[in-house]
Amino acid sequence: MPIRKTAGYAWNMISLIGMILAVTATGLIIAFLSFEFITGVEKPYLGLMTYFLFPGMLIFGLLLVPIGAYRVRNERRKQGDVEIPPYPRLDLNVPHRRHLFIFFILASIIFVLIVSIASIKGFEFTESTTFCGELCHVVMEPEHTAWGNSPHAKVKCVECHVGPGAAWYVKAKISGLRQLYAVLFHTYPETIETPIENLRPARDTCEHCHWPEKFYAGRQKVFYHYAPNEANTPREINMLINIGGVPKSPHAKGIHWHIGSEVTYIATDKKRLNIPYISVKEKDGKITEYMSTEKPLTRDEIAKANKRLMDCTDCHNRPTHIYRSPSQEMDENFVSGHIDSALPYVKKVAVELLTKPYKTTEEANTSIAGGIQDYYNKNYPKVAAEKAAAIKKAVVEVQAIYRRNFFPQMKVSWNTYPNHIGHFYTPGCFRCHDGKHKSAQGKVISKDCNLCHTVLGQKQENIPAGAPQVKNFVHPVDIGDEIYKTNCSECHSAGGEDVPGSGRHEK
Ligand code: HEC
Ligand code: HEC
Ligand code: HEC
Ligand code: HEC
Ligand code: HEC
Ligand code: HEC
Repeated sequence: MPIRKTAGYAWNMISLIGMILAVTATGLIIAFLSFEFITGVEKPYLGLMTYFLFPGMLIFGLLLVPIGAYRVRNERRKQGDVEIPPYPRLDLNVPHRRHLFIFFILASIIFVLIVSIASIKGFEFTESTTFCGELCHVVMEPEHTAWGNSPHAKVKCVECHVGPGAAWYVKAKISGLRQLYAVLFHTYPETIETPIENLRPARDTCEHCHWPEKFYAGRQKVFYHYAPNEANTPREINMLINIGGVPKSPHAKGIHWHIGSEVTYIATDKKRLNIPYISVKEKDGKITEYMSTEKPLTRDEIAKANKRLMDCTDCHNRPTHIYRSPSQEMDENFVSGHIDSALPYVKKVAVELLTKPYKTTEEANTSIAGGIQDYYNKNYPKVAAEKAAAIKKAVVEVQAIYRRNFFPQMKVSWNTYPNHIGHFYTPGCFRCHDGKHKSAQGKVISKDCNLCHTVLGQKQENIPAGAPQVKNFVHPVDIGDEIYKTNCSECHSAGGEDVPGSGRHEK
């Protein structure tokens, strides 16, 4: 083959493919970026292409050009063209070479610009809730939904799960690659398990926004309930929660005392529900050890066990992925007026329908719609006729309750993950504050009902109107001193007694 010295080295198949790839990728990146810029819409799959796939294609294409050229050059040298020196000649006095050189510099600048924009945007994109919550949306659906209905709905996933700093970003992306693999090849656990073992210590993330020294006052909160009876009788507990307690603050007593002190514990189960051992470093440096009087550990077991330093997530393990029980949801829907509490037995009926096991959301929707309508047609034909609109609205709201708290695809429902903040459905604070953890000196971790909150007022069917203000919580049904002896969760959650109000009532 005669050697054509005039034809450029880049005139070969590999380099040409590279150039086509690079030009196409550049065009696509510019088009997609402008689309996003003009419409303001961020779509997870478009993002993946604009920030990762096309820039990858651009770089790959550009790499192909010199590779192809190098091969042609080698070929020509092998064929005996001794005039070709080992390195290219750069003679800017030849106009053709000079133009090529200027073109090369300009193209490089454009290339660096495009790739930088793509990587900055790509970084932002991997930090967005679109990326975290929607990209693998079946897997993240429960968390993304619950997050959207929580006080942290404006806080990005990464602010809690990654936090500031490059080291944690890299760590998160490496484990992200593993997760991507798990999603693509379906090796992820059916239900995501908690606690997350390698969650960044909460004090690095939560304290970025929250200022524990500020917890000095009480927090007033009203707990609304409705009886599962014909009238859906309202019940109200108005409480002052003693959230003070960090030693720097003037009121160094109260709930946040735990984070101003060094409290460590041993849990014998993965979910950290059984806590037989707690140790506290007192101000004078002495260690006080509390041991479960029911299931004490031996010295040897204590020495061997993993000890965990208490942080925010030992109480606030659900600051944003908050699921509510059917009963709690119904109560909130009555308070907000979304469901008409004048519909007889509507709480009881809805809670029963919500607690039935369903395989899919569609099945639940059908059963809820049919169940509520049939109930009134059969038992209250007059109500069914007169309040048709209210019944229809109730159906829509109850179906929405299902979608917010039950995710059959991921086998997640409201009670899959315990919430440690109180003691109603799961032991929560009573994991330690059950009055059954004692130190060698006889000190007990208190279960005193006024340690953590004070009842400011209560309204209920068994408290007559005009009666003197209650000081202690009055249980809606008389359960004697079980209220002090038994943990609330033993009756109010799965496995306990059949309690209609708890959303666990199945008949
Ligand atoms: C306010 C802080 C915060 C924000 C914002 C946040 N998370 Fe979480 N997330 C947590 C905590 C705390 C846990 C529970 C850890 C535990 O129990 O060990 C958790 C747990 C999870 C879990 C494990 C399963 C579960 O339900 O506990 C997943 C998955 C998850 N988060 C995904 C997300 C996604 C996706 C987003 C954004 C849409 C997000 N998180 C936003 C704090 C947060
Ligand atoms: C990026 C900032 C940010 C981070 C990080 C953050 N939060 Fe928050 N948090 C907020 C804001 C803002 C609110 C107030 C929302 C409101 O009142 O509407 C809030 C509210 C809360 C509340 C009160 C909720 C209620 O019922 O009113 C708690 C408890 C809380 N955060 C705990 C946590 C915990 C625990 C973490 C760490 C896992 C955390 N937060 C991380 C910004 C943040
Ligand atoms: C891991 C065990 C553990 C858990 C869980 C726990 N606590 Fe404590 N708590 C302790 C210990 C230990 C003390 C110190 C007892 C003492 O010194 O008498 C304490 C003391 C307290 C005090 C008194 C503080 C003071 O000012 O003297 C309050 C209030 C309190 N806890 C509230 C709570 C609340 C509310 C929860 C649940 C959200 C909770 N605790 C969960 C171990 C725990
Ligand atoms: C011993 C359990 C416990 C620990 C540990 C704990 N909290 Fe709390 N925190 C509570 C309780 C209980 C409340 C009141 C909850 C309620 O009102 O429903 C509360 C309330 C709050 C509030 C709302 C305050 C307000 O003014 O309404 C914020 C914010 C908060 N905690 C953040 C944190 C952060 C950040 C940490 C870690 C540095 C932390 N908490 C550690 C139990 C705890
Ligand atoms: C160690 C602290 C602590 C002790 C001891 C304690 N509580 Fe509570 N309790 C809490 C916290 C924290 C909440 C708030 C949970 C929330 O905000 O969701 C709460 C909530 C409640 C509620 C409202 C529940 C609801 O959902 O309506 C009642 C009622 C209540 N407590 C009664 C009691 C009684 C009765 C006792 C004594 C047997 C007691 N508490 C002992 C920490 C405690
Ligand atoms: C021995 C079992 C038992 C124990 C222990 C128990 N409860 Fe109950 N609880 C019930 C029953 C039964 C009802 C009645 C259901 C109804 O009529 O709503 C109820 C209802 C309630 C309600 C009203 C619920 C609603 O939605 O209307 C509250 C609030 C309540 N209990 C709080 C507590 C607290 C707080 C504790 C722990 C300090 C506790 N209970 C311990 C059995 C128990």
